[in-house]
Amino acid sequence: MEKTLAILKPDCVRKNLIGDVIKQITEAGFRVRGMRMVWLTAETAGGFYEVHRERPFFQDLVAFMSSGPCVPIVLEKDNAVADFRALIGATDPADAAEGTVRKRFADSKGENIVHGSDSVENAAIEIGYFFAGRDLVALG
Ligand code: CMP
Repeated sequence: MEKTLAILKPDCVRKNLIGDVIKQITEAGFRVRGMRMVWLTAETAGGFYEVHRERPFFQDLVAFMSSGPCVPIVLEKDNAVADFRALIGATDPADAAEGTVRKRFADSKGENIVHGSDSVENAAIEIGYFFAGRDLVALG
């Protein structure tokens, strides 16, 4: 079964939306295989978003992602990567489709509530950033 990494970002935690967002995710058919709550350092956030290091928004992204706790979640479903990106909507909530997580809950492109892996290959790398194999619980 395909896996993807979601991160409920610090704005999601600050706005007390963890439950609402997980409810939307699980109602869409995703199953939770692993979940943690972590407060990233700037160094760890920068490492996670290494591919964006040369982008103009990198410093703001790192500052935001290390501004409070976040909730990385391993999700499993057929076609999990693409289906999760469809569920959360476009990066900028202004462009996101009606009913998507970002349209419902996000304020801006920077503070956009949730991260989702962009490919199966990157999902495996990103899951490994937060979870060891033994952390992924078998589902009965
Ligand atoms: P995410 O899916 O976590 O991947 C990279 C993040 O960079 C993205 O969501 C946005 O929250 C953030 N970001 C901030 N500014 C921009 C921007 N101008 N363009 C794209 N992504 C941005």
